[in-house]
Amino acid sequence: MQNTSIEDQLMKEVQDKVKEWRRYFHRNPELSFKEEKTSQFVYDELVSFGGLEVTRPTRTSVVASLIGEKPGKVLGLRADMDALPIQEETNLEFASENEGNMHACGHDGHTAMLLGAAKILSQKKDEINGEIRFIFQHAEELPPGGAQELVKKGVVDDVDYIVGLHLMTTLPKGKIGIVYGPLTSNSDTFDLKIIGKGGHSSQPENSIDPIAMSAQIINNLQQIVSRSLDPSEKLVISTTTLQAGMAKNVIPETVQIGGSVRSFSPIVRKQAVSLIERIVKGVTDAHGGSYEFHYQYGYDSVINDLELTKVVEELIVEEFGSEYVEHGEGMMGGEDFSAYLTKVPGCFVPVGARNEEEGIIYPHHHPRFDIDEEALVDGIRILVNLPKKILSNQKEWMR
Ligand code: NI
Repeated sequence: MQNTSIEDQLMKEVQDKVKEWRRYFHRNPELSFKEEKTSQFVYDELVSFGGLEVTRPTRTSVVASLIGEKPGKVLGLRADMDALPIQEETNLEFASENEGNMHACGHDGHTAMLLGAAKILSQKKDEINGEIRFIFQHAEELPPGGAQELVKKGVVDDVDYIVGLHLMTTLPKGKIGIVYGPLTSNSDTFDLKIIGKGGHSSQPENSIDPIAMSAQIINNLQQIVSRSLDPSEKLVISTTTLQAGMAKNVIPETVQIGGSVRSFSPIVRKQAVSLIERIVKGVTDAHGGSYEFHYQYGYDSVINDLELTKVVEELIVEEFGSEYVEHGEGMMGGEDFSAYLTKVPGCFVPVGARNEEEGIIYPHHHPRFDIDEEALVDGIRILVNLPKKILSNQKEWMR
C-alpha cells in the first residue's frame, strides 16, 4: 500500500508539472522546423531527470532513450512540438506571446505529456524490460514533415513498436479513441494552371476563356466523388484556391487553381489523380485550351496495427474502465506519424479533450482552440502504463 501512495504522490507532482509545461509551450509557440526554444527546453528537462540518453537527431528535435534494467524490445513514444501560423483569440492568461503563432492543435500538450511520462519512467528503470525511446518530433504541421527526417536519421531503425497520442476536441474528455486500421487520410494537394488565350471581353470569338473552362472543371471535379467512385470508398476533393484576371473588360490568359485531396485507400488515391487529370484534359481539349497539372503526394494515411491497438485498448479498459473506449472510424485529417509506420507497426491514439461546459469546443487549427487540461492526466497515465504492458508482455503477437 505504501508503494501506491508514493506513486500517487509522484503522479500528482508530475501532473502539476505537465500542466505548467503545457502552459509554457502554449505561451511560446514556434513554427515547424523552427522549434528552437521548445526543443532546447525539452532537452534541458530530459537531461535534468537523469538516467536518460538524450540526443538531438536534427536541429529542433530531441530523442531520449531509457534503457531498462532487464532485456527486451524497444518501444517508441512520439510527441510533436510545432505550432501553427494562426493569431490566437482565446484570451487565456497563458495565450501566445509570439504574435501570429499559436499552438492550435494540442502539440503543446503532447510535448508536456511525454515529458511527464519520461520524468516518471526515468525513476523506474528497474521495472522496465528493454527500452523506451521518447521521440520529441519537430514539424508535424508542414509537409514533408519532421517524422520522415527522423526516420531517415535512423531514429526508429531498431524500434519494435511505436505509439503516439493526439489530444482531440472532436472527442469529449473522458474518451479515448480506439481505431483499428486506417485512422487518418492520405493528404495530398494539387496545382492546376488552366491555359486559354487572353483577349477583349467584348470579343470572345478571338480568345479562349480560361475562366469558363475553370468553372466547368471545378464543378466536374465533384463528379469524381459522386459518380466515378465506389460509394463505399472515401474521398474528398476540395478546390481551395482560385486566381484569375485583373480587369473586368479583359479575358485573362490563365487561371490558377489549387486544391486538396483526401483518401484512405492507396487505390482510390491513385484513381483520384488520374480522374482529376482526365476531367481537366477533357474540358480544356473540348474548348481549345491546355493545362499544367502538378499533384503533390502529402502524408500517407496512418494505419493502426491491429495487434498493438488491441493491447492499447486493453490498457485503456484496465486503467480507466470500458466506458472510456470510443471505437471510432478513420478521419479525414493528415498526420505524419504515418512516416514511422513505413518501418514499425504502430498505434495512434486520439485522446478526448473537449469540454462543452467550459466552452472548450473549437476545432483544431481554430484561433480559439483550447484543450481541457484534465485530458493531459489521461494522456500521462497512458504513456506511463503502456510501456510496462507492452514491453513485459511476451505473448505470441510480439514480433
Ligand atoms: Ni496535430
